[in-house]
Amino acid sequence: HTAHAHVHAPRSGASSPPAMRKRSPADYDFAQTLGEGSYSTVVRATDRHSDRVVAIKILDKRHIVKEKKTKYVAVEKAALTLLSRHPLVVHLLATFQDAQSLYFVLECAENGELLAYIRRAHDGLDLDAARFYAAELIIAVEYLHSMGVLHRDLKPENVLLSSDMHIKLADFGSAKLLRPESPPRPAPAAPPRDTDHGADAHVDADAAPKSTRSFVGTAEYVSPELLQDQPAGAASDVWALGCILYQMLVGRPPFKGSNDYQTFQKILKRDFIIPDRIDPDARDLIDKMLVLDPNGRISLADAKQHAFFSGFDWTTPIWDQTPPPLP
Ligand code: ADE
Repeated sequence: HTAHAHVHAPRSGASSPPAMRKRSPADYDFAQTLGEGSYSTVVRATDRHSDRVVAIKILDKRHIVKEKKTKYVAVEKAALTLLSRHPLVVHLLATFQDAQSLYFVLECAENGELLAYIRRAHDGLDLDAARFYAAELIIAVEYLHSMGVLHRDLKPENVLLSSDMHIKLADFGSAKLLRPESPPRPAPAAPPRDTDHGADAHVDADAAPKSTRSFVGTAEYVSPELLQDQPAGAASDVWALGCILYQMLVGRPPFKGSNDYQTFQKILKRDFIIPDRIDPDARDLIDKMLVLDPNGRISLADAKQHAFFSGFDWTTPIWDQTPPPLP
């Protein structure tokens, strides 16, 4: 309704409804950088058509190709496309590309990373807050697994928080899609809705030789089976959730050496201590999530039934519950 609302975006087709065509950088007003990774930059932006604030993940094509990361980009797009209708998963709104870059337009998680809240708390979140966010993580990861997706890089940096302080799982670049293709397309003859073939390389997960499949994820949260060249399974995500639950309650991750090698040694020896001040039920659950043998590790279904969650209401959708305040 303002006089200048349309002067910024040069439109290709006179007044084509934005939902009907592939978008371009000109559809967005780019603002400050929200985060930088080794292969991407996330920038806050506003959709010029709807005024909606979004987070745009920008990947440099030359860099991706040179570093042989095309598979990870394809996996991230496939996983987000499959999963991002869920309220606890960051929503993928659009993808497009130009000569230099690939763009993932994501729902903006206004309150940033869970890690920042854990850091602010210094020696751990309140028990009720840790319980609530552990429950949200379990529900979100159970959903991923039910869709045949392993996240493989769960950590507090990848747990984003919306404006209403519910989690939004992000960063599916390390994910593994256990089922080859997403839901069967209704009409095989129909043209694909998405013409962005640039990020659509085939998902032949782990076709790489042993040396290059060495380790996906982050040292502090990697499971012992992955360190021993065994395949990641659903239990590997449970291990990472155990590390995050510990970190929410204690303020630091359970396994942290002076370098990645020292961290790996601690993980393989299960060398961690839960401080005495930690709630006994929480301690017991962490103990069962951080079992070395993936087959002996607690399942997410059993974790929900654990005494730590006694009195927790699993029947009301968690996104309709009010999160306990974080510092
Ligand atoms: N950083 C990375 N992805 C983000 C998102 N979707 N929202 C806010 N910050 C982010």
